[in-house]
Amino acid sequence: MEKRPFRTTCSTDICFAIFISSAIVWIFLCFDYSTFHPSNNGVRGISSSLNPNKLLLKPSPLSARTLDPCSGRYLFIQNIPSRFNSDLITNCQSLTRGTDKSDMCPYFVNSGLGPEIEDSRGVFLNNSWFKTNQFLLEVIFHNKMKQYECLTNDSAMASAVYVPFYAGLDISHYLWNPSITIRDSSARDFLSSISEKPEWKRMFGRDHFFVAGRISWDFRRQTDEVSDWGSKLRFLSESHNMTMLSVEASSWKNDFAIPYPTYFHPSKLSEIVEWQSLMRARQRQHLFTFTGAPRPDLTDSIRGMVIEQCRGSSLCKFIDCSSDGVNCDDPTTTMEAFQSSIFCLQPPGDSYTRRSIFDSILAGCIPVFFHPGTAYSQYLWHFPKNQTAYSVFIPVRNVKKWDESIEGILSGISKDRESSMREEVIRVIPSIVYGDPRSKIGNLEDAFDLAVKGILERVENVRKNIREGRDPSEGFDGPDHFKYTFSNND
Ligand SMILES: *[C@@H]1O[C@H](CO)[C@@H](O)[C@H](O)[C@H]1NC(C)=O
Ligand SMILES: *[C@@H]1O[C@H](CO)[C@@H](O)[C@H](O)[C@H]1NC(C)=O
Ligand SMILES: *[C@@H]1O[C@H](CO)[C@@H](O)[C@H](O)[C@H]1NC(C)=O
Ligand SMILES: *[C@@H]1O[C@H](CO)[C@@H](O)[C@H](O)[C@H]1NC(C)=O
Repeated sequence: MEKRPFRTTCSTDICFAIFISSAIVWIFLCFDYSTFHPSNNGVRGISSSLNPNKLLLKPSPLSARTLDPCSGRYLFIQNIPSRFNSDLITNCQSLTRGTDKSDMCPYFVNSGLGPEIEDSRGVFLNNSWFKTNQFLLEVIFHNKMKQYECLTNDSAMASAVYVPFYAGLDISHYLWNPSITIRDSSARDFLSSISEKPEWKRMFGRDHFFVAGRISWDFRRQTDEVSDWGSKLRFLSESHNMTMLSVEASSWKNDFAIPYPTYFHPSKLSEIVEWQSLMRARQRQHLFTFTGAPRPDLTDSIRGMVIEQCRGSSLCKFIDCSSDGVNCDDPTTTMEAFQSSIFCLQPPGDSYTRRSIFDSILAGCIPVFFHPGTAYSQYLWHFPKNQTAYSVFIPVRNVKKWDESIEGILSGISKDRESSMREEVIRVIPSIVYGDPRSKIGNLEDAFDLAVKGILERVENVRKNIREGRDPSEGFDGPDHFKYTFSNND
C-alpha cells in the first residue's frame, strides 16, 4: 500500500513551503475557526424548495419533523452525463494507477469493493474482506448512496445534493498530461454541466457535494505552470460553492476529509463486533511497526528518520515495501504487521495522510502521528475529538532539529494507558469502515453515515447564515490557516 501508485502532489517539503508562504498571507485574515466546524446544535429539518425565499425562510413545522424520520436528511442524487461516472467504469482499462501501469479493472467488482480476499493465514474473518483500492472510494460511496434510506427524487425536498462525479478516476487520465488545457478540460465541462441544472440555482451549489478517492491537492493547481501538479478543478468559480469530500483535505474550508477505504466491508453488525473482540484479544509481540518504502529522494524527511529508528530498534517491526518478496499491495502483509504491533508509526509521506492510518486502526494498533495534518485536522467527523485518548503525538516542527527517541517515548507509556488507548482505537473501528454497499447494517453509523451527517449539518449551517442575513460564503470556502499548524499547546 505504501508503494503509493500515484505520484502525489507535493513532497512534504513543498507542502510546508506552500503552507508557510500561504500562512503569511492568511495570518492577516481573521477567520473564525468555529464557523468551520459542523455545529452540533441540531438545527435541521428545513424543507427546501426551488423558491429560494421559501427554502431559506421557512423551517418545516415541528410536527412534520417528528412524523417523518427522514425530515432534514433527504438527499437528491444529481443526474450527470455518464462520461463523468459510469463510462469511467466501462472503460476501466484506460485507467492506470499512475506510474504503475497495472490494470484497474479487477478492483471494480463487488460494487467497487474489489475481489474478495482469499486468506490462508487466518489474518481476516472469512467474509466481508476485499482487496479494495483506495481510488474506488468514489464508486463505493456512490453505491452506498444508492442505498441511502432518505433519498428523494423530488429535489425540492432534498437537504443536500450529491453529485456522483468520479473526480479522481476522471483526473487520473490527465494528471500526467503536459497540456494544462487538457488537464482542466474535464473539470470545466463538469462544472458547466452541473451549474446549468435547476437545482444549482436555489443555493448556487452550496448544498452540492461530491467525493474524491484522491487527495485534494490533486485538484488544486495554483498556477498555470506545466510543472505545477494537478488540475484546477477546485479553483474554478462554480467549484468554490461545492463541498468536496476526499481522503485528504486541503487547507481550504470547502474540502473535508473522510476515511480512506480499508479492506473490511462488513455486511452485518455481528461481523464488526466479532472483529473488535479479536483485535482486543490479539497478542502483540512488537512494540511498534512501520510499513512503507524508504524514499531515497527524501532523506531529510521525517519518514527517513522514522525508518532509521525502526531499523535500529529491536522492539520495532519494519516492513520494507521496496524490498524483493515483500508485497505491500497484498492486504495480508500489512494487516498482519499491524495486528501484531501495539503502536503504528504514521509519518507524513508524499502527502500528509496515508491509507495505512485506517488499516492500522482497523487492526487495533494505536497510531503515532508526527504532524497535525495527518489526522487531527483532517477527519473531524470520524475521529474522537480527544486526540490523546486514541493516539500518540510526537510533533516534528523542524525535521533538522528533531532528536526524539520513538522507542524511548513509546516504551515509557504505561500498560494501563496503552490498554485504554487501544480500547478507544477499537471503539473507533465502526466509524472508519465503509459497510458493504449491498447490505444495510441496521443500527450502526459507518464512515459513510458520518460523512452524510457532516454534510447535512454543514449545509444546514449555510442555510442558517442565509436566513440570518449573513453572506453564505462566510466560513464556507477560502483558506483556513489553522488547519495544518501546530497549536501552541502541543
Ligand atoms: C474460516 O473458515 C475456515 C474453513 O471453513 C474455518 O476453519 C475457520 O475457522 C474460519 N475462520 C474464522 C475466523 O471464522
Ligand atoms: C426515483 O425514480 C426512479 C425512476 O423512476 C425509481 O426507480 C426510484 O425508485 C425513485 N427513487 C425514490 C427514492 O423515489
Ligand atoms: C456562488 O455563490 C454565490 C452566493 O454565495 C453566488 O453569488 C455566486 O454566483 C455563486 N457562483 C456560481 C458560479 O454559481
Ligand atoms: C482526553 O483523554 C485523556 C486520556 O484518556 C484524558 O486524561 C483527558 O482527561 C481527556 N480530555 C478530555 C478533555 O476529555
